[in-house]
Amino acid sequence: MSGQGTTRRTLSIDIGGTGLKAIVLDCNGVAVDERQRVPTPQPATPRAILDALRGLIETQPEFDRVSVGFPGVVHDGVVWTAPNLDPGWRGVSLAKALQDVTGKPVRVANDADVQGYASIEGSGVEMVLTLGTGLGSALFVDGRLVPNLELGHHPFRKGCTYEERVGKAALAAVGKKKWRKRVSRVIAQIEPIWNYRLLHVGGGNAKLLVVDDLPANVRLHSNLGGVLGGIALWRD
Ligand code: BGC
Repeated sequence: MSGQGTTRRTLSIDIGGTGLKAIVLDCNGVAVDERQRVPTPQPATPRAILDALRGLIETQPEFDRVSVGFPGVVHDGVVWTAPNLDPGWRGVSLAKALQDVTGKPVRVANDADVQGYASIEGSGVEMVLTLGTGLGSALFVDGRLVPNLELGHHPFRKGCTYEERVGKAALAAVGKKKWRKRVSRVIAQIEPIWNYRLLHVGGGNAKLLVVDDLPANVRLHSNLGGVLGGIALWRD
């Protein structure tokens, strides 16, 4: 019956600068197995990532359609930017490439947008930051996405962008304590500009933050959201 109406299963993939993750979700977005992860090949060229994804996909149970979170700007399944991957990604139709690999329909969105779908409550202005290799950002109004918000590359302090201040390289350079302070500064900077009701913080490094040190309208989320949110790409 798989492939029919409400039994449809979604393979959800999260392409990160450090890891590639995959999980299969049932029609309600509930995981049917454990999330699998393999390291992102370096250099992270389209060919190397597609080869690694092929191997990862083979380990997954059956599915009928595919959702992908990609770490850059994506329009209609085509990659526009990929700041933390190989420059060869520009212009690649990731949707078409994965359709060829899987033989199933594929939808692709920015990775922070996908994480956001898994995290938001769906009312008012909600903002999302993802702390991983890069700094992802997303904006939702009453549950509707404003796609491809790229706050990470906006200038912030000391001649650096937000991503340069709190991305993975910055964390490795300054250590957790200083990095946490930097994240608090980022939040203090964006809150009075965006005036969101809630700020959701996800990504692999969100676990390094201490919720009690953050403003009351900040919610921390597990990195599993990067794949669980994939179900939302088929909600139409
Ligand atoms: C990219 C974003 C992405 C973020 C997290 C940034 O460098 O520009 O599109 O969401 O990294 O992967």
